[in-house]
Amino acid sequence: MVSSLLPLQPFMGFKEEIEKRRTFGIVSHPDAGKTTLTEKLLLFGGAIQVAGAVKSNKIKRHATSDFMEIEKQRGISVATSVMAFDYRGRKVNILDTPGHKDFAEDTFRTLTAVDSVIVVIDVAKGVEEQTEKLVKVCKMRKTPIIVFINKMDREGKDAFDLLDEIEQKLGLSVCPLSWPIGMGQRFQGVYNLYKKHLNLFSPHGKQTSDEMTSIEDLSDPMLEEKVGERPAAELREETTLLKEIYPEFDREYYLEGMISPVFFGSAINNFGVKELLDCFVEIAPSPLPRETEERVIHPDDDQFSGFVFKIHANIDPKHRDRIAFLRICSGIFQRNTNYQHIRLNRKIKFSNPTSFMAARKEVVETAYPGDIVGLYDSGNFKIGDTLTAGEELHFKGIPSFSPEQFRFVNNADPLKSKQLAKGITQLMDEGVAQLFTKEDNNRKIIGTVGALQFEVIQYRLKHEYGASCQYESVNLHKACWVDCEDQEELKAFTSRRKKDLALDKDGKLVYLAESAWALKTVQDNHPAINFHFTSEF
Ligand code: G4P
Repeated sequence: MVSSLLPLQPFMGFKEEIEKRRTFGIVSHPDAGKTTLTEKLLLFGGAIQVAGAVKSNKIKRHATSDFMEIEKQRGISVATSVMAFDYRGRKVNILDTPGHKDFAEDTFRTLTAVDSVIVVIDVAKGVEEQTEKLVKVCKMRKTPIIVFINKMDREGKDAFDLLDEIEQKLGLSVCPLSWPIGMGQRFQGVYNLYKKHLNLFSPHGKQTSDEMTSIEDLSDPMLEEKVGERPAAELREETTLLKEIYPEFDREYYLEGMISPVFFGSAINNFGVKELLDCFVEIAPSPLPRETEERVIHPDDDQFSGFVFKIHANIDPKHRDRIAFLRICSGIFQRNTNYQHIRLNRKIKFSNPTSFMAARKEVVETAYPGDIVGLYDSGNFKIGDTLTAGEELHFKGIPSFSPEQFRFVNNADPLKSKQLAKGITQLMDEGVAQLFTKEDNNRKIIGTVGALQFEVIQYRLKHEYGASCQYESVNLHKACWVDCEDQEELKAFTSRRKKDLALDKDGKLVYLAESAWALKTVQDNHPAINFHFTSEF
């Protein structure tokens, strides 16, 4: 008993294990090619094998873990899956993120568990709405970003224009590490400015790997031989221009989130993907320190710590248990070891922690900082919960965002009110939506980022808890968390505005604004009150 309470002493290779890890997320607007890129990365990592006959949608099933029946029905990646593989001596952990805008909050939360991201942009569509939102969150957290411009086999925007658009709309300082030679029908490949080699594209027949030719100096006549006279001249001209416009690549700047390397390729053709991966494992950060309310946690701290960033309902509807995804932040996580669940103030041990190797799930004995383990959970976890070897810590940076859609939730089956309450609590703990309880009449309001969640909640309440709910419209624009240094002032505000106030699931006070105008008025009338758009302030 006593021995299981002792933290595991990190061994000699502990730091090497941390250094090996690359934990990242791929984000994009739907259809830019995130799933395709993920599949190709998994292929390179040997995490999946594709015989020629395997249809791409079959691989897709493996590349995104569709835990929920509803997801299969809708064909939308509701789930955030974790896929790990080894590549060139590194352990790569990809955290997949739902692209659908209604699940943006899931994606925001997943971004709290990564150390870097790859942003995929469709060359024809350029920067789209969802990409803008997601990059904003990454920038808030200073997450290092690599940009992959996809679908170069199609006609799209001029490369310089696209980089301008990325700088303007995403506010990123870009640094192209590869440069395209033509596009669409005329796409011949890319010149890798970082490694100084030419990577030629063969449009007919699938490439299994990039075909590199080393060209140290672009004045080399071999360039003409390979791509023809005109494209060679264009490439020389454009790369000269690039040097004048964009900064040299500096890894430190990239790691600080100040510059973003850019690659061009075509995921579906497996083109430029190896190039991206090779550079990624070389430059992307290993697990980074993380802030808690108490202190900064360094990955090589001896003592284990981690936080839950995602909770997922089990695949099997007959089993109620869920999987809590834990990001390990420091020390070594061990199976069957007692860890302190800080919020519940009790020890818990896990007999079947799971790691994810693409579609395969395996029980893990030990896991290191940067790794994600799945913990079977029967209702002990909420998003943001901390587990440690014993120290009282609370990880920061896993906020709830102000929802955009609101509805009253009513019980549609009075005989199942207990089930409904339990179901709602558990779904809220999973972070499916947010629940607000009105201060004046105790009515419950569900707030979500997208309309689809309302259907998900209704479906899951019925299928997993046997409860029915009905929604009733409520005219709300935003929910803002409020606080005030002056407690008297806060008290006065609370009593005057009771009908517009509610408590969130943690008992924090929230102002429910009917419109942007109402919010502005109340802000003007109560200058001492602080209004926050995220729950962490
Ligand atoms: P997402 O996860 O970002 O939503 O995008 P996904 O990978 O599903 O790709 C969206 C569509 O774009 C898919 O076509 C995919 O085949 C196509 N695509 C991905 N990369 C490239 C590329 O480099 N070039 C071209 N031309 N197309 C690309 P789909 O017709 O929607 O699906 P599917 O039937 O091909 O699976």
